[in-house]
Amino acid sequence: MSIFHLIYASTAAPDLKPVDLERILDASVRNNKRSDITGMLLYIEGTFLQALEGDEAAVTGAYRRIEGDPRHQGLVVIQSSPIESRSFPDWSMGFKYLGVEELSKRDSYRNHINNDFYSKVRDLKPDTALAMLREFSI
Ligand SMILES: Cc1cc2nc3c(=O)[nH]c(=O)nc-3n(C[C@H](O)[C@H](O)[C@H](O)COP(=O)(O)O)c2cc1C
Repeated sequence: MSIFHLIYASTAAPDLKPVDLERILDASVRNNKRSDITGMLLYIEGTFLQALEGDEAAVTGAYRRIEGDPRHQGLVVIQSSPIESRSFPDWSMGFKYLGVEELSKRDSYRNHINNDFYSKVRDLKPDTALAMLREFSI
């Protein structure tokens, strides 16, 4: 069966609380397990970057649900395409909460983190976005 992935960025709702992140993650793990979706979610000071991978219909179905979630807005799809193999086979949904400061310590991302972090993330090239998600999934 061919595998498909979708990577997107979004901005967290202004009133998002830590408990909301917990709830998002709980639902993600529960639903994704059922649909054989794997992936990774990064939360970087108000910006989400997420990869979903699995069967195309399952991934697009999950994305449609995620898209309508009021806990974030301004979703921009960075890549939506078939892939050779999964990048996050062990994670129903991996999660990492990152500070911009932590990210700025990595040379490879220094260019992406200045003032307007969200606009930088939404403009990431697909390969860079995937590399960033992979780097923090370990
Ligand atoms: C940033 C973000 C990422 C999310 N990721 C997923 C996900 O990977 N899988 C999923 O099923 N729901 C995800 N959700 C939650 C969905 O939008 C939705 O609330 C959930 O699927 C509803 O599940 P439930 O009916 O079982 O409570 C995400 C929500 C947000 C805001």
